[in-house]
Amino acid sequence: MQFGLLLPGGDGRPIKIYKEKAGSLLISGAKGRRERQKKKVILEFFWLFFSCYKVEYLVEKVFTIASCDAAEPWQLGFQDAATPVMQGIIDLHHDIFFFLILILVFVLWMLVRALWHFNHGRNPIPQRIVHGTTIEIIWTIFPSIILMFIAIPSFALLYSMDEVVVNPAITIKAIGHQWYWTYEYSDYNSSDEQSLTFDSYMIPEDDLEVGQLRLLEVDNRVVVPAKTHLRLIIASADVLHSWAVPSLGVKCDAVPGRLNQTSILVQREGVCYGQCSEICGTNHAFMPIAVEAVSFEDYASWASNRLS
Ligand code: CUA
Repeated sequence: MQFGLLLPGGDGRPIKIYKEKAGSLLISGAKGRRERQKKKVILEFFWLFFSCYKVEYLVEKVFTIASCDAAEPWQLGFQDAATPVMQGIIDLHHDIFFFLILILVFVLWMLVRALWHFNHGRNPIPQRIVHGTTIEIIWTIFPSIILMFIAIPSFALLYSMDEVVVNPAITIKAIGHQWYWTYEYSDYNSSDEQSLTFDSYMIPEDDLEVGQLRLLEVDNRVVVPAKTHLRLIIASADVLHSWAVPSLGVKCDAVPGRLNQTSILVQREGVCYGQCSEICGTNHAFMPIAVEAVSFEDYASWASNRLS
């Protein structure tokens, strides 16, 4: 958005905008032209607003950047949800934010009003009211109703996240190490020798190829089938780590000597990036997670390639 205000106006010079009266934006110039130019400013703002989307769209098209689930520069808000759980988290956030704004506006209004009406200059002799039953009932009942409106969806989400899928198609074990992750696909173990296990290390900055994300790309991604119920078992071999992928809505501690379990259902194909989220030593920032969700056929051929 920053480039927006440097764009030239109709006469080629950069448009200079200043505030004359509260609420009206005008271009510098003679009084007679103001009305006409007012319209122009509004149009320019519309143009800027839409062009931002156009630029983003073009950059994506021209450079064929595959959109992936990772943090963006200057990002505000969440990454796109790839699982129903993450969608639930985003919805709950918006839900609670509604009440938050209501409370914020109300409390601010009360504060400003109290400062305005009850300062020493305006109100030198204070009232001696110490209580009022009606208002006390209202300010007890009303917040508890709001709390209930927050609690009900919150608990619903909490318990649905906790629910472990009864019959997951695949079980994947993620083991945290200082400082990389090991993944085990234990469904395919026919003997002690044959198992699908691999380490996943971050790709160092010097070895990055075009399109790979710094501090996020790994040498071996966790390949999972999309639209399939998965069970994740998370553990650690040394210290505390945390397996966290924002767009999957997963943040699960990896504790040595303990198995933590979550289940996910990735709804679309793509790569979801995450990072270790428990301070685990010097290279804590350098043990990212990359989950690649593919079609079930692609997953099956990947797994059979890995096993042979
Ligand atoms: Cu592993 Cu932080």
